Amino acid sequence: MSWLVTGGAGYIGAHIVESLQASGLHPIALDNLSTGHAHFLPPDVPLVHGDILDTKLLENTLRTNHASGVIHVAGYKYAGESVNRPLHTYEQNVEGTRSVLDAMHRAGVHRIVFSSSAAVYGTPEVPRVTESTPKNPTTPYGESKLIGEWLIRDQAAATRSTGHPLQHTSLRYFNVVGSSSERVVDTSPYNLFPLIFRALSENVAPVIHGADYATPDGSAVRDYVHVADIAAAHAVAAKKLSDGEPLLTAYNLGSGTGLSVRQIMNAARDITGIAFDPAVGPRRQGDPDRIVASGASATRDLEWTMRYSVEEMVRSGWAAHRANQQEESDER
Ligand SMILES: NC(=O)c1ccc[n+]([C@@H]2O[C@H](COP(=O)([O-])OP(=O)(O)OC[C@H]3O[C@@H](n4cnc5c(N)ncnc54)[C@H](O)[C@@H]3O)[C@@H](O)[C@H]2O)c1
Repeated sequence: MSWLVTGGAGYIGAHIVESLQASGLHPIALDNLSTGHAHFLPPDVPLVHGDILDTKLLENTLRTNHASGVIHVAGYKYAGESVNRPLHTYEQNVEGTRSVLDAMHRAGVHRIVFSSSAAVYGTPEVPRVTESTPKNPTTPYGESKLIGEWLIRDQAAATRSTGHPLQHTSLRYFNVVGSSSERVVDTSPYNLFPLIFRALSENVAPVIHGADYATPDGSAVRDYVHVADIAAAHAVAAKKLSDGEPLLTAYNLGSGTGLSVRQIMNAARDITGIAFDPAVGPRRQGDPDRIVASGASATRDLEWTMRYSVEEMVRSGWAAHRANQQEESDER
């Protein structure tokens, strides 16, 4: 039973591939390597080097591998940049998702798990975001993920009365961090963990953006979750869809508690052994005090649990960062 992972050579996709393998499902990755790397994948996992906008290639890949489902991870994920690149963002995330659904329909593949995002909620001012919290995306990125969810919903409705209705769920991630293998690292130039690690490698103090939020230590609180937990939830979702078990249309993969930026900086100081005082910069426009999600629905249906402490998140992320730095300098 094989599952196609679009974006399987990326940070989260490569972790999902490993979780599928561990669950006895057979992953195949399809990736254009725009931000991913072939060496992120375990050596025994086939990689189709191609683009999700190439519907024919997707269809052929699904057919030749007798795929039973798709985990659609590929996308353009830079929320801030998406404001300057709306056309690119919509092409990748909306047209890309349409192409995946079209190829699945043509190839007779009826199960999809979609990488969605907390960005569909915008900046919710609620103590804990649930799946029914209003969706008010504030960037083209968030809008494109919400439209991706709608496309899947509408295709499911359109196929409901056929013999093969589309079975689906969307998993909304918040801040994904850490690594389960030194081979795979978050390459984002904007996410907090890579920013901290890069600053420390360059002997520069990492920056806390805003220290006057209404939180216990004044820094913003977000929902950081270990990528291995995120990946595991995909394998459970794929298995449940394969077994014909009903799932909700969307799940938050959240911790329910959250961590502050300062807590993460403290863990980074302890784990790396580098003594530093974070610099404090101005708040970033539109950043709320706290965004924390309830993972209760995912706990009920997807065996969702937070297995890793903040120290483990930082330790594994730092180890992967250092291993990849070494690899980059060996290549030069
Ligand atoms: N990292 C996070 O904190 C986070 C949070 C919420 C949602 N997400 C979503 O999770 C998904 C994966 O994120 P990530 O952090 O692993 O990012 P990533 O950039 O490491 O992975 C994306 C992968 O998709 C591939 N890709 C991009 N466009 C493609 C295309 N047109 N055709 C084929 N392959 C393509 C890239 O080469 C890369 O391997 C994205 O859809 C992102 O929006 C990520």
